[in-house]
Amino acid sequence: MTTENLPQPDAEPIYQARNLVKIYRRGPQPVTAVSDVTLDIRSGQRLGIVGESGSGKSTLIRMLAALSRPTSGEIRFAGESIVGRTEAELAWLRRGVQLVFQDPRSSLDPRMRVADIIAEPLRSKIWRGSQRPDPQARVTELMRQVGLDPTDARRYPHQFSGGQRQRIAIARALAPSPKVLIADEAVSALDVSVRAQVLNLMTDLVTQHGLTLVFVSHDLAVVRHLCDTIMVMQHGRVVESGAAARVYADPQHPYTQQLLASVPRLPRTN
Ligand SMILES: Nc1ncnc2c1ncn2[C@@H]1O[C@H](COP(=O)(O)OP(=O)(O)O)[C@@H](O)[C@H]1O
Ligand SMILES: [Mg+2]
Repeated sequence: MTTENLPQPDAEPIYQARNLVKIYRRGPQPVTAVSDVTLDIRSGQRLGIVGESGSGKSTLIRMLAALSRPTSGEIRFAGESIVGRTEAELAWLRRGVQLVFQDPRSSLDPRMRVADIIAEPLRSKIWRGSQRPDPQARVTELMRQVGLDPTDARRYPHQFSGGQRQRIAIARALAPSPKVLIADEAVSALDVSVRAQVLNLMTDLVTQHGLTLVFVSHDLAVVRHLCDTIMVMQHGRVVESGAAARVYADPQHPYTQQLLASVPRLPRTN
């Protein structure tokens, strides 16, 4: 894979998803979490996926990241189908797409040192047969990039604050130099002042590395800062999507209007 990440307007979209459906059949009643979602994501795009809790956002991105298999539908990443592939066949996707989750307390192994957590994506089998970066040098570089002190690399996650733990999760996600970063409510659990800092960091990193961003949040105020395109989900469907500026200025769907009406202005941090 090349490191060329600049947006190419005429290039094929990096993600193409067609008619995605996910039905969970665990309980007494089947739950249709995602219902006929079709989307394209261009290289360099910053897509915000918004909608209230339970609207299917996490289910959708888990399918995009090949962590969950669609009940039906098709997903192509960098031109290749990903549905039904084995883990070995998905190595290129595992390197190219990384995730940051809401709660670093559960996504970071408390028994591992920070250096090992960040280097984890470099140790895995996904590098078989390809050039793997030197983990130690990469950890130092990444800790600096996310605003952590590399001399803390031998500490454990509980020795860091919530915001710092999310920085660790971001460093780990960047370790294999992914093309796409998917963040699922990545700042929702943080205090307001820390949230702004981590958002600024993510904005800087996405710009510096020319990343394609998929940023999931129930909070439209957060998405507004980061994304150029907005997709609004309700009950597993996309009810509205378009340029962020347009969606905010002139929301078409009643649900989007309702979501926007309930957006508080970002509180000032004094
Ligand atoms: N593993 C699962 N098993 C059964 N139902 C699930 C599972 N994950 C999510 N759901 C259901 O699917 C719907 C969408 O959930 P989710 O994708 O988590 O929404 P969101 O991320 O927007 O809050 C909800 O009704 C949720 O209860
Ligand atoms: Mg969710």
